[in-house]
Amino acid sequence: MALDKDVFAGGVAVVTGAGSGIGAGLARRAGALGMTVVVTDINEAAAAETVAAIKAAGGKAEAEKVDVSIPEELDRLAELVFARHGEVRLLINNAGIETVGYTWEVPTARWEAALNINLHGVIHGVRAFVPRIIASGQEAWIGNLSSVGAFGQMPAQTAYIVTKHAVQAFSECLYLEMELKKLPIHVSAIIPGMMRTNIFNAEGGEGEPANASGHRRAMFEMMRDYGMDLDEGCRLFLEQMAENRFWVHSQPEMSEQALGSRIRFMQEQTPPVMPDIARQIAAD
Ligand SMILES: NC(=O)c1ccc[n+]([C@@H]2O[C@H](COP(=O)([O-])OP(=O)(O)OC[C@H]3O[C@@H](n4cnc5c(N)ncnc54)[C@H](O)[C@@H]3O)[C@@H](O)[C@H]2O)c1
Repeated sequence: MALDKDVFAGGVAVVTGAGSGIGAGLARRAGALGMTVVVTDINEAAAAETVAAIKAAGGKAEAEKVDVSIPEELDRLAELVFARHGEVRLLINNAGIETVGYTWEVPTARWEAALNINLHGVIHGVRAFVPRIIASGQEAWIGNLSSVGAFGQMPAQTAYIVTKHAVQAFSECLYLEMELKKLPIHVSAIIPGMMRTNIFNAEGGEGEPANASGHRRAMFEMMRDYGMDLDEGCRLFLEQMAENRFWVHSQPEMSEQALGSRIRFMQEQTPPVMPDIARQIAAD
């Protein structure tokens, strides 16, 4: 049996933001590996669609409406899942939004949404689930959605980049906490390069400054034209998590490039280096 099936089949998976994109892809893959998948999203109809796709492929899944920006909703989810299933083998803290616009032009509400969904959603997912996982005495895997953006800089995506640097740091410290406490909980930083999803769709730009729409559209087109196939990326993610890897990549060459630039930037202590894509967008 393949390692991922061996590790995950028969367990319960919980995925946030699983109504679309990577969350939906991971939920479908978990279902195909024989897990019971708790598909959660703020968008109830989208979560139901993912559940229908998993069931149509012969898997087991259920939908829950959860807004990860509200810590109490994650507490409620953890309570409900443990009451219903008694265990969680795989927790994927995936829900995230992009935010485009210059720092001083992004309204307060949009800054708060970025921080509350992308960062606090991951922290409170862990805070709500880990005590119950420990109490269950079972081995478990936690994947937090980091990004190649966690290692770089991108002007006019500052809110997003800040949250991804933070999720990466959070995951690194969490990994060490598990080691210190000798807990059988494997922590991974999931690092997508560029995968074809809805994250740069025009609707996602609600609340951003009006002058952000060109940047959003350029990123949307790049992702549509060059993004990796979702199912292939999500298959790779769960394969690497089953191997207990901390670093989990969709496109290792993109990660290596981003990490190499980061290392050089820090060793040489140059000023921040403008990404080519930022120059291109600004010139359009
Ligand atoms: N697509 C990529 O190339 C890429 C690259 C790096 C990192 N990521 C990360 O992957 C994760 C998923 O992004 P995606 O590209 O699949 O985006 P997506 O927009 O396709 O999907 C995000 C999902 O999260 C849900 N969501 C939004 N706010 C929510 C909330 N408050 N509570 C619960 N659910 C909420 C949305 O309804 C949607 O279903 C994000 O954390 C993103 O930062 C994606």
